[in-house]
Amino acid sequence: MKVGVVGLGAMGSGIAQLCVEAGLETVGREVTDELGEKARDRIGHFLTRKVEKGQIESFDLGLLSLTTDLADLAGCDVVVEAIVEELEPKQELFAELDRVCRPDAVLATNTSALSVTEIASATSSPERVVGMHFFNPAPLMPLVEIVRAELSSDTAFEQAYALGETLGKHPIRCHDTPGFVVNRVLIPLLNDCVRVLDEARVSVDDLDAGMKHGTGWPMGPCELLDLVGIDVHVHASEALYDKLREPRMAPPPRLVAMANARLLGRKSGRGFYTY
Ligand code: 3HC
Repeated sequence: MKVGVVGLGAMGSGIAQLCVEAGLETVGREVTDELGEKARDRIGHFLTRKVEKGQIESFDLGLLSLTTDLADLAGCDVVVEAIVEELEPKQELFAELDRVCRPDAVLATNTSALSVTEIASATSSPERVVGMHFFNPAPLMPLVEIVRAELSSDTAFEQAYALGETLGKHPIRCHDTPGFVVNRVLIPLLNDCVRVLDEARVSVDDLDAGMKHGTGWPMGPCELLDLVGIDVHVHASEALYDKLREPRMAPPPRLVAMANARLLGRKSGRGFYTY
């Protein structure tokens, strides 16, 4: 099987890493050679660490080829998109993928809060478009949501599910509703956590300690928001609020202010914590 990954940022490079680890021929597409090389270095680094720690025996980074040209995805069986989380660029990309990819290739989006059906509507074959929503960090989080859009075919849906299994993930099936399964629950929950910071006048450290030691979360909500990216979370909250109009979905002003100040979490070096 040959898999294409479009966009090799935090999520895309993690997905490409899973493909290489699973021994699949992988084509990674970035907008510049430099960004592609950066992703390959990152993938090489994490896989080397896995070998050093005895978690895998070996890996073949030669399975990953890099390109800036979408036409190089023509031979892929499945293409997973992980570009900027905005509808228009995703629709443009899917229209182009629809033109360049084989008619039986599955086109999957890793969107976390946009409608897979709306993305698929930009193609002439929406039946082959599905959602494959990985969680951050993709190589470490076992879940992938396999999302059935309005017009997804059973074949495309099951092929995406099977790919999830091949990548060693725990896939779950769901329909294309705002936030799918996990973000529908997690986004308002994280927003509540941030509101509690002000309401209960609890410190960031204590809130995180509370959720870790009181409920067994592996990391506290503020640590998690820093990992996901404050901007990514605000954007996903806004998308869900837009669709559901539930007040808890709206991003708390404190998070919007952080996003505006570029306090984005780990990726910018400062969020709730300093890195
Ligand atoms: N690939 C491979 N290895 C990686 C990696 C990657 N991309 N990123 C980090 N690692 C490595 C670390 O470097 C470390 O290796 P090392 O021994 O060489 O240092 C190893 O993985 C383990 O790291 P940690 O010690 O930090 O691992 P933990 O046991 O503490 O677990 C965690 C880390 C899995 C992130 C855990 O804290 C966790 O489960 N946190 C919750 C994360 C979560 O909820 N994610 C979902 C976010 S919501 C989302 O993604 C939805 C989206 O739509 C917004």
